[in-house]
Amino acid sequence: MLHAGYFLLGLIATTVSAASNVADLVGTWSTKSRSVITGPGFYDPINDQLLEPNLTGISYSFTSTGHYEEAYYRALSNPTNPECPRGIMQWQHGTYTVDQDGTLLLRPIEVDGRQLLSDPCSYDKGVYTRYNQTEKFNSFTVSVDPYHNVRRLDLQRFDDSIMHPMYLVYQPPEMLPTDALNLASHRDSKKKRHVARGETLRWFRQEDLLNPNRWLWLGLFMTAVGGFTFIYS
Ligand SMILES: *[C@@H]1O[C@H](CO)[C@@H](O)[C@H](O)[C@H]1NC(C)=O
Repeated sequence: MLHAGYFLLGLIATTVSAASNVADLVGTWSTKSRSVITGPGFYDPINDQLLEPNLTGISYSFTSTGHYEEAYYRALSNPTNPECPRGIMQWQHGTYTVDQDGTLLLRPIEVDGRQLLSDPCSYDKGVYTRYNQTEKFNSFTVSVDPYHNVRRLDLQRFDDSIMHPMYLVYQPPEMLPTDALNLASHRDSKKKRHVARGETLRWFRQEDLLNPNRWLWLGLFMTAVGGFTFIYS
């Protein structure tokens, strides 16, 4: 059912992608919960720390001058121990280009990206590392969502799968400085850093784990994200 939906979205995105141009990208976009937003609320460059949003989600920002920023907070399914979902936060910024065929290419500033991976059942601490991942999208489509009456961005990945739709939340975009952050903290960010559990990640609260409705939702979400976790492997 879910996959049939994505397939349909894919067809729609493919047929109307020619209508979107680069200027349409400008702004801050966020998935349905609007809980994840690029900028200082997600990454604190002074303390070199990722700040956990209330809910999972994805956000991208684009400027008219070719800069982008992205923020991911996702739950990852844990096949060996389904009761222990892992959490991942990723942040990057850099420059983007759009080819004549509509391909969107994001090139991060190599040393600025950050990732926090937490596996509450396997480790006491989250693992905080640099993150440097060039991204390619075969197309992007900006439209007005008929249900929410807001501008909506659909990104088609390099393998033609379609991302969850994102909705315009800020214009001009909410972003950290677009130049290299060039922080003192870079001196020790080469090595992995261990962050105490709960320090930046709150995890799923105890009451959520005991609430079956919440579990159903979590299960559905993990089914949905399961299909694209390979991008980062
Ligand atoms: C970042 O990724 C690019 C593309 O994969 C690679 O060429 C580059 O060496 C990487 N830089 C660092 C610092 O890891």
